Amino acid sequence: MYALVALAAVGLVGTAVHGLTVSSPASLTQCQPAALSWSDGTAPYYVDILPGGQPSATALENLGEQSGTSYTWTVNIAAGTSITVRVTDSTGVINYSSAVTIRELFFLFFTQTIISYMDTKAHG
Ligand SMILES: *[C@@H]1O[C@H](CO)[C@@H](O)[C@H](O)[C@H]1NC(C)=O
Repeated sequence: MYALVALAAVGLVGTAVHGLTVSSPASLTQCQPAALSWSDGTAPYYVDILPGGQPSATALENLGEQSGTSYTWTVNIAAGTSITVRVTDSTGVINYSSAVTIRELFFLFFTQTIISYMDTKAHG
């Protein structure tokens, strides 16, 4: 019985390794370019931006057909919006990134100011 369960688990892990995988963007800032990427599918890919964590919702943004495994998206959706990146490959396999909330541009400047202030304090 236990051996059977273990075998089934190995089988599942084995299948998951080759599936289309979508990387979750580390951060998304309104009006700034963000690198989206995915791997292990079959080109071309169709990329859409969906409301965060809602795989069956209507896309907020359609990024079109992509022949490569990355795309630079200039974030044109309001700060505070949670989004999920959906990638569909040419064989019909679909996968999603985790939900990421878009930050305000102000937040980026604020962070950079703090970092440069701390750098000044530390070095001079
Ligand atoms: C979707 O991606 C996850 C890893 O992020 C992977 O485990 C899963 O197998 C993928 N699903 C498909 C349908 O390829």
